Formats: sequence, C-alpha cells, structure tokens
Amino acid sequence: MIKLIILAAGKGSRMNSSIPKVLHKVYDKTIIEILLDKVKEITPDILVIVGYKQKEVEEVLIKYDNVTPILQKEQLGTAHAIMQAKDIINDDDIVIIINADTPMIKEETLRNLIQLIQTQNYQGIVLSTMFEDKSLPYGRIIKENDKFLEIIESKHCSKEELKIEEVNAGLYCFKGAELKQSLMQIKENAQENKEMYLTDIVYYMNQNNKNVLAYLDKDYHQFQGINTQDDLEVVTQYYLNNNRKKFIGKNINFIDIKNTYIGQDVCISSGVTIYPNTNLMNATILDRNVIIRENSTIIDSYIGCNTIIEQSKIEKSFIGNNCIIGPFSNIRELSNINDNVKIGSFVEVKMTNIDTNTKLPHLSYVGDTTIGKNVNIGAGVITANMNINHKKNNTIIEDNVFIGSNSVLIAPVKIEEKSIIAASSTISKDIEKNKLAITRANLEIKNNNKC
Ligand code: UD1
Ligand code: MG
Repeated sequence: MIKLIILAAGKGSRMNSSIPKVLHKVYDKTIIEILLDKVKEITPDILVIVGYKQKEVEEVLIKYDNVTPILQKEQLGTAHAIMQAKDIINDDDIVIIINADTPMIKEETLRNLIQLIQTQNYQGIVLSTMFEDKSLPYGRIIKENDKFLEIIESKHCSKEELKIEEVNAGLYCFKGAELKQSLMQIKENAQENKEMYLTDIVYYMNQNNKNVLAYLDKDYHQFQGINTQDDLEVVTQYYLNNNRKKFIGKNINFIDIKNTYIGQDVCISSGVTIYPNTNLMNATILDRNVIIRENSTIIDSYIGCNTIIEQSKIEKSFIGNNCIIGPFSNIRELSNINDNVKIGSFVEVKMTNIDTNTKLPHLSYVGDTTIGKNVNIGAGVITANMNINHKKNNTIIEDNVFIGSNSVLIAPVKIEEKSIIAASSTISKDIEKNKLAITRANLEIKNNNKC
C-alpha cells in the first residue's frame, strides 16, 4: 500500500504571520490545497500531520475524502511529526513524505519516485536538487565517494559543507519497515532546542546498513519551499507563470498576458479575448468567444459563449450565453443568469436567478430574487430583502414585468407577469398580473416666492 504523509503541523514562524503557514494563499488557493489537489490521485491513503491551529487546517482538509489528519501536539521537529503516524505505517507500505510548504511539486515527480523504490533495491530515497541561488538555507546532501552519508541542515554546516550545491528538496520515499526502524533511533538534535530532524534518518539508515539514495532532480522550481513571505512571492510568480503557459497556442487572445492572473483550475476555451488586469480564479470556466475587458475578477464561475464582461466582479455564479455584464457590475454568490441578459453599470446581484432577455441596466441592487423573461428593471431599483431581524426574504418578478426607476420592492413580495410598477413606487404587497402599481406622492407645483 502506498501511504503519503504531508507535514503540515509547523507554525511557520519565519512567515511572521498569525495564520498557519499552510493556510497562506498562493494566489487563489491555500498552500495545502494546491499540494493536495495535485497529489490526491496518487493514493487513497493520505495522512496530514497537523498541529499549529489544528482546527483551522482541518477545516480545509474536510473536503478531501481520502485525507486523514494526525495530530502532532507539540511541534518537536519533522522526525517527531512522522513518529505520530508510526502506528499506521505497515512494514510493507511504501511511504512518501512531503513537506507541506513545497506545493509546486509535480505529480509526475512523485510517480517516478514510487516507481524507483518499487523497482530498485533502495529502502529510502531522498529527492535532491540544485537551486540557482546556492546560498539558500536547504539541508546539504553529504556524500563521500558518491555514497550518500547524511543530510546536514544549512545552519549547522561548516563553510566547506555550505559550498555543496546538492540540497534536500523536502520529498522522501521509504519502505515502511526500514522507515520505522531508523525513525525511532532519531534523537533530539543537540544543536537545536529539542527538535528531531527527519533528515537525520539518512545517517541512521546507513548505520543500519540500508540502501539510501539521493536522487537528483534538476527541475528545482518545483521544490521551492515556502518559509518566508519572500518565498511565497517567488512561488506565486512560478504558479501564475505555469498557469499562463497552459493557454499559449490555444487560440486565446491575451492583450497583455503578464498582467493576466490565472489559477490552476481555470479552463479557457478557444476564441476568448482577455484584456489586462484580469483575475481568473478557482474553478472558473470561460466558454467560447467570451470577452473579458480589463480589471475584471471572476471567481469560481461559468461564463457562457459570446458573453462580454466589462470591469466587473463575478463570484460563484453561472452566466449564460450572449450576456453583457458591466461595466462595474458585482455578481455575487449563487446567482444564475440565463442567456441574453444585460446587467449594467453599478448593479449588484446576489443569490438571484434571472431568465432570458431581461435587462438591469443601471444602479440596482437585486438579492434573493427570481426574475422571469423579458423583464425591464429601471435605474435605481432596489429589492429590500432584509427585515429588521436581519432575516432575508425573497422577491419574485415574473415574465414581462416592467419595474420603473427608483422603485423599492419590499420582500417578501411577488410581482406577477406583465405588471408595471410606476417609477418611484414602494411595493410592499403582491401585485397581480397585468396591473399597474403606483405609490408616488402627488406632485404639487407652487409659486416660487424668491422670484
Ligand atoms: C526542511 C528540511 C531541509 C530541506 C527543506 C526543504 C528538516 C529538518 N529540514 O527544512 O533539509 O532542505 O525542508 O524545503 O526537515 N513540520 C511539522 N512538524 C514539526 C516541524 C515541521 O509538521 O514539528 C512541517 C512544517 O509545517 C513544514 C515541514 O514540516 O511544512 C518542513 O518544516 P520547515 O520548518 O519548513 O523545514 P525547513 O527549515 O524548510
Ligand atoms: Mg520549509
């Protein structure tokens, strides 16, 4: 059985932040989600070692069926973290260990590692790499006549040892029995306050006459660890560049690709045009020939064919074909907008269904509402959806209704089909079909005494 253990219990002191390190975001996803989304197919048996702000980290883990959190109460080092899982590791398991702060690791790298340990006579493999910047504080791979002897953390290295270019990438693979045997021999590192280093396992495996290999993979970008805010920025740039590259040569017109920000799960179809300063995040899908004008942010949403989005924000919503959204619209969560709808400037929509050919062209708020086909919503229309007890109520506007400008619909309320609400009306009860409703005060015209 293949077991994958992810080390995520550390506080991440060098981040200088109160958020646990693995919950920092690389653009649109947390560090731990980026890693898990990549490795979740490798095995049905993933263990995540949690500790610092355990509950917050576990809240993110819940959505993964094959992930079990294991508690490391005190963070006494990377070896101590693995010791918390030792009773779950069987002798014939193959155990992969990944530092959670290394989220750009490629799935293919893990698969190669598994194949290597299954086919060669090694009881342990440490993935090593060489960064361009030789001064980075990674553990140095110590060898003598090509034999891999041990790993020494950079802060404990001599000047000579620091010149070694091959470093520990933070990804390991072991056979279960030998992992447990050598792990339990690891002692508190004398130079460090009570910490037990997983890296010391190499020394003990050699002592136990086990075969341990440092396997060099020169594709170092994938092993960039996140220990500081600067590291987070480096990884974020790498993440964004990788995601952009996926769409090059796919008949997508990026006006300025380096100022277009794309998450790992985004899908963009052929014929799409994207203007600068656009953010496309999480599971967003842009269907064929969509045009996204500058300064738009689209999060976890579907945008149908030929729709134009101009300077707008759309979150967790579905937008149909041939719609025009914006400029400056705010389509909030769980909105469902059908084909040929126009939502114009300064319109906010929340948890609302809008059917075909309906128009909300200017300055409206529509929340918890169902709107039918061919409806016209005038400028400044508001659905007053929250009562004084902060309870949200629904509004229903049926097909072919006309709501005049500056009207307020006080929910719960229903406007039946083909009715007209005169401009500036306040509607506090249901209006039957084919009616004209008006609550406007009479106009008085008086002399202007100042003339
Ligand atoms: C570690 C390695 C170093 C390697 C580098 C690669 C050790 C001792 N050193 O250093 O050789 O070059 O990664 O990125 O392993 N963690 C726990 N419990 C703990 C301590 C840490 O779960 O008690 C977790 C952290 O949350 C983190 C991971 O282990 O995700 C690695 O810890 P970190 O402190 O980042 O180690 P590095 O100093 O980066
Ligand atoms: Mg680290």
